[in-house]
Amino acid sequence: EQIEKGGYDHFMLKEIYEQPSVIKDTYRGRLHANEGLIQMAGIEDNLEKFLNAERIIIVACGTSWHAGLVAEYIFEEFARIPVEVEYASEFRYRNPIINRKDVVIAISQSGETADTMAAIKLAKENGAFVFGVCNVVGSSISRETHAGAYTHAGPEIGVASTKAFTTQITVLTMIALRLAKAKGTLSNSVFHSYLQELEIIPEKVKEALETNERAKEIAAVFKDAPNCLYLGRGYNFPVALEGALKLKEISYIHAEGYPAAEMKHGPIALIDEHMPVIVIAPKQGHYDKIVSNIQEIKSRSGKIIAVVTKGDTQVRELADYIIEIPETSDALSPLITTIPLQLLSYHIAVMRGCNVDQPRNLAKSVTVE
Ligand code: G6P
Repeated sequence: EQIEKGGYDHFMLKEIYEQPSVIKDTYRGRLHANEGLIQMAGIEDNLEKFLNAERIIIVACGTSWHAGLVAEYIFEEFARIPVEVEYASEFRYRNPIINRKDVVIAISQSGETADTMAAIKLAKENGAFVFGVCNVVGSSISRETHAGAYTHAGPEIGVASTKAFTTQITVLTMIALRLAKAKGTLSNSVFHSYLQELEIIPEKVKEALETNERAKEIAAVFKDAPNCLYLGRGYNFPVALEGALKLKEISYIHAEGYPAAEMKHGPIALIDEHMPVIVIAPKQGHYDKIVSNIQEIKSRSGKIIAVVTKGDTQVRELADYIIEIPETSDALSPLITTIPLQLLSYHIAVMRGCNVDQPRNLAKSVTVE
């Protein structure tokens, strides 16, 4: 097992560090930035289905569901197709409206999650076209779907999903870009700049991994906190959910993710000098809005840990701790902002003496409902 961990103390840490290379593996042969092309067999063969879709319904569970939420923002912005994201477990039991013109995308690392599998069967029975985004080749979900695209994350051993999440986002971003090209919903120059940016994302993820020491320092301060709040807006709202999920999964600290603006409708009541609030506040996106959210936290004495773009000055003045990440566009930022949050959870869990790779009560793949 020590050999399999490749010198890292835990599989989770190894998998966090693999992200630059597995993101590259995931777009290799599919993303051709210089030619302005995206080629994915599963999409090319079914392009009409996607272009005629009146709606895309994404079904998934856990971290894969969070990747689905990021995809909702990306698909709607890039390809202007309405998207709904459903917990597979809710979808299958609520008599949903599914039309022949719906495309259902099922996202699953393992390809074995029982609820996601059941949602796929239901969608198929109702005549929808079902596309899978799986990591495990030949898995049940990859066989049950009409077509699909694999993430090339390699085996993910740590129960808390890390590299599966970023590679799912990579695949879903490429699909959205391919559809945008076919539909003409992005200008040529914007389309090209996204391709180029996606191509250099692994470098930026590598740079984001340099926050490891900083994450460790911050972990030492907050490791005994009983609660934690994660806030983000827009593309980084799902990242806030994912950050909170990572922390609760492996450290057993109660954590909630919230859209930053929604804080005033409830969570703000929890804020006092004992409450760590992790705010995802990159320069791109709704920066001014998030700055005012940070001010609201500060005036209630909350402890602010902010993930900011390198060179940020405004948030630095307000936050108790900052973690600097490289700049990228708003739409691709989840691939970067999520990295320090993974590291922060990891170090907190290690410092609390938790079993990082195999947290209590959780399974890597949930094949029962
Ligand atoms: C379990 C795992 C999570 C995972 C979820 C969905 O709860 O512990 O890490 O996100 O299942 O799994 P899937 O394999 O369908 O992505």
